[in-house]
Amino acid sequence: MPNPITRRRFLAALGAGTALGLAACTSTKQAVTATATPTGPVRQEVTLRAGIQEVDLGGRTASAWTFGTLPGPAIRATAGDRLRITVHNDLPEETSVHWHGLAIPNPMDGVPGVTTPAIAAGTQFTYDFVVPDPGTHWFHPHTGLQLDTGLYAPFIVDDAAEAGRYDAEWVLVLDDWTQGVGREPQRIFDDLVAAGEQRGGMMHMGGMGMGMDGGDVSYPMYLINGRPPNDPDVLRVKPGQRIRLRIINAGADTIFTVGVAGHTMRVTHTDGYPVLPVTADLLQIGMGERYDVLVDVGDGAFGVVAQPAGKNGQALAVLRSASGDTATDLPPGYPVTADALHADPSAMLPRAEAQTTHDLVFSGSMAPYVWTINGAAYGHAKPLTVSPGERVRLRLANMSMMSHPIHLHGHTFGVGRDGPRKDTLLLPPMARAEVELVADNPGRWMLHCHNAYHAEAGMMTRLDYTT
Ligand code: C2O
Ligand code: CU
Repeated sequence: MPNPITRRRFLAALGAGTALGLAACTSTKQAVTATATPTGPVRQEVTLRAGIQEVDLGGRTASAWTFGTLPGPAIRATAGDRLRITVHNDLPEETSVHWHGLAIPNPMDGVPGVTTPAIAAGTQFTYDFVVPDPGTHWFHPHTGLQLDTGLYAPFIVDDAAEAGRYDAEWVLVLDDWTQGVGREPQRIFDDLVAAGEQRGGMMHMGGMGMGMDGGDVSYPMYLINGRPPNDPDVLRVKPGQRIRLRIINAGADTIFTVGVAGHTMRVTHTDGYPVLPVTADLLQIGMGERYDVLVDVGDGAFGVVAQPAGKNGQALAVLRSASGDTATDLPPGYPVTADALHADPSAMLPRAEAQTTHDLVFSGSMAPYVWTINGAAYGHAKPLTVSPGERVRLRLANMSMMSHPIHLHGHTFGVGRDGPRKDTLLLPPMARAEVELVADNPGRWMLHCHNAYHAEAGMMTRLDYTT
């Protein structure tokens, strides 16, 4: 549970009066007046319960916050379906649900104080929207560090027009895990803030943390589908079958390098959109990103291995087509990253000149523990503004020695000239990137680093539409 004293101390450390973190602005007045209630028949009624639950992690019992299971129950729909999703909050504090990757109307986006009311403890809220975008998406709270307690689940949207050229499909949710076995996320955050105060002034610039890409937090466990390597999730298949893996990085502070032992992967989609297929031994996946790959399974048992970048340990799942030991060795080499990919023509934005350009500089430090966009923590900066219908270019510059997965709500962007269409882009240390989007979904939209600790420490801003 968030500790109000440490939270207050953190606010004081930054200067008073700022709402920070994913829970930003929970105390400000709701300014949302629009109701986004769609018309048309409801295709699915879904009920989710967020609550505290004991989970078994390979023989260790942990008290987790979940949507009933770990990961939560996947939502599966077809593009164009109207869904009504009622979320009951059995947690001891308020929560929310953000539908990561779905460009839905602003009032359903699930950001307390900005788009959607928070769901108070003991109450419920019904989200009602038409699912627009096919692909591998997911959902999680947009409240404090709740994402790192176990509250996440896949949201898979089928494309009625896409013929599945594969025999089976497997959704793999990667996670870095501490809740109930190590320090609780809020405690980790408070410790980062306290350590930043003590070191005051040392280690400025760049936030080296645990080293390049190593994140700010070391985790006792890494999971795939809620399971540690000693009790992995197993998919039984037949030799020669073609399997579609839908891989979601739900980690809070961990970039994973993923591979399938003894196999290459055919990368077909990222963040739901098709790319020109590329063959990869290894694939790098930042927090919030999704990749779909095809694998032609050989004869045996093969680990789907996710190595946490710059950290010790690994996450494992097993593709099994025969009895015997599981191969878990991945080849050496560099993983494929988003900048090596090109959008499928169907996923490209129409060619056009940008009408508005915004520069975004990402930086921060470990001492004090503050992460910023354009020099300001969330709440200290004015939102970026765009006009409805505009073509918008965002020039992203990472001026720190850590990677930041940059996520925009309510939209997708094209990376560079012909790079992939995405909603979350992993920006390596000191790297730059240009992305473009069409401002076609009015509202107030979060734009933030998907490292939950960086977002909580201020690395968030907003893209607001002028009217
Ligand atoms: Cu997946 Cu603003 O979040
Ligand atoms: Cu970050």
